[in-house]
Amino acid sequence: MCGIVAYIGSEQARPVLLEGLKRLEYRGYDSAGMAMLNDGLHVARTVGRVRVLEQKVDGDDHFNGTLGIAHTRWATHGGVTEANAHPHRDDATSGHGIVLVHNGIIENYSALRTFLLNKGHVFESETDTEVLTHLIGELYEGDLNAAVRSALHEVDGAYAIAVMCEKEPGVLIAARRGSPLLVGVGEHGYIVASDAQAIVGHTSRVADLDEEVVARITHDSFHTADLDNVEVTPQLRELEVTLDEIELGDHEHYMLKEIYEQPQSIRRCLRGRVNARDGEIVLGGLADHARELVRSRRIVFLGQGTALYAGMLGEYLVEDLAQIPAEADFASEFRYRNPIIEDGTVVVAVSQSGETADTLAGIREASDRGALTLGMVNVVGSSIPRMTGAGVYLRVGPEVGVASTKAFLGQVTVATMFALYLGRRRHLSDTQTTDLLRELEAIPDKLDQVLTQDSNIREVAKRCGHRDNWLFLGRGYNYPVALEGALKLKELSYIHAEGMPAAEMKHGPIALIDEGMPVVVIATRNSQYRKVLSNIEEVRSRGGYVIAVATEGDDEIVNLVDDVFFVPDAPEPLQPLLTIVPLQLLAYHAALLRGHDVDKPRNLAKSVTVE
Ligand code: G6P
Repeated sequence: MCGIVAYIGSEQARPVLLEGLKRLEYRGYDSAGMAMLNDGLHVARTVGRVRVLEQKVDGDDHFNGTLGIAHTRWATHGGVTEANAHPHRDDATSGHGIVLVHNGIIENYSALRTFLLNKGHVFESETDTEVLTHLIGELYEGDLNAAVRSALHEVDGAYAIAVMCEKEPGVLIAARRGSPLLVGVGEHGYIVASDAQAIVGHTSRVADLDEEVVARITHDSFHTADLDNVEVTPQLRELEVTLDEIELGDHEHYMLKEIYEQPQSIRRCLRGRVNARDGEIVLGGLADHARELVRSRRIVFLGQGTALYAGMLGEYLVEDLAQIPAEADFASEFRYRNPIIEDGTVVVAVSQSGETADTLAGIREASDRGALTLGMVNVVGSSIPRMTGAGVYLRVGPEVGVASTKAFLGQVTVATMFALYLGRRRHLSDTQTTDLLRELEAIPDKLDQVLTQDSNIREVAKRCGHRDNWLFLGRGYNYPVALEGALKLKELSYIHAEGMPAAEMKHGPIALIDEGMPVVVIATRNSQYRKVLSNIEEVRSRGGYVIAVATEGDDEIVNLVDDVFFVPDAPEPLQPLLTIVPLQLLAYHAALLRGHDVDKPRNLAKSVTVE
């Protein structure tokens, strides 16, 4: 949801900014811009990708400075136009040459705009960001840091900003509330960015800016203070992300790279945490709350998008393996519906980025109402783990493709370990636990086997990829997989797809089925297998084209369906870890065949930092 990057130091800022923007493009990619202080202020903005901006500033000596700010946008206020692209300036005629890039939403921008219009300000864009920039200009009295702090006192909403001023050519100001922002501290300068991916490769030392902290950075100094100018000591940490992990290497797309990384990612996720021989599950991030968790009376998983579907699997896993009432909900709905939090309620935020605004707001609400809150998050040091203080990291490595794949598998793996952790302490026997852990440890090798079917899946995508309406059906543990399979297909290939419980199909959606309509049915051998076969018959008798995900060696299903993707057998609670993978590949190939950008689907952003 917009990426920002800024540089101040002794090196050229332009390559650092452009490379940083490219790595942050997953956050939004409808327009881009850059401002540089180099013998005056220079600003370039474009509609389109960062590469278009690169062409615009390439070879332009004005952009040869050592202090600059840059932005890649996902539109919230105002359409995708050059005028709405960042950086924004304070008043062009009476301003001070203040420029700003912003990620977030200024909620009271309309009132602030009216105030500024009455003061004679003239706006060039429809954005909330330009309003904030003008407000800083209005309050500027020769000290940019002071003006930014004063303006931020007046602002409701979320922001991560980087600001500079023509009148103070050696100063960069950065601040955040609700949107992420890090400062990389290198030998030759400082990089401010929305995400560590723009910093890695330059330095491994970073400081996460705290809420409502303002950083004043010069070519050789870095000071932080709160909005009242009380000094705050920044905590430096070492980045865990490496350059290899975020580079494409020989892969055609990040999405394919990440699908293929899944066996290795899950090995990493499990390493040091499960030990089948001794029947042990060690989740260090929960250790301080073990007693409270074991006695919990209700567990609520919150998330959005793919993360919510992983949370739904968490619900099934916790009820089944730990026998604790559980549910999953859209964080956005939970947050605003006066949720009931009783004694013993635990609320778990599931998130790849750790920055999803709805999920953050949900967890804040739960915490205010007295729930114990936990995070199941991939990005270390992001807002959710900082807010919850307890949880389990996914450890699947950085995910760059906008459509989530390996993070989903990581979330489900963590939810499985969590359910087993609770179950073992409540009622699961040593043998039951050991058996499931052994099966869990075998999942990465089984994932390797699933991936060998890539070419078969591609052929099916070729046969059916032209159809514009699809259904995805599953029962029990495979129902959230059906939802996730449908989501993958729609977000990547723009095909209309709906996931639902297989039984629900006959209560309405069956009316959609006509000759050749693709219906993906997850029909692995498990407690509901026979029921699913009946649902397949119902689809076939109406002319639907059935693509099944089935258990290896199931000869019976081959005669019932049009195409099959096989997955190795696994205990029912672990089957989603395998059954989702063919559906990820199906969506990938369908999108490619339709000529879409699989890593950056239209209108999407990977990290949605606005509610
Ligand atoms: C966006 C992404 C989805 C993701 C969802 C939640 O909508 O496009 O892929 O599942 O946000 O993101 P999170 O970072 O909280 O997992």
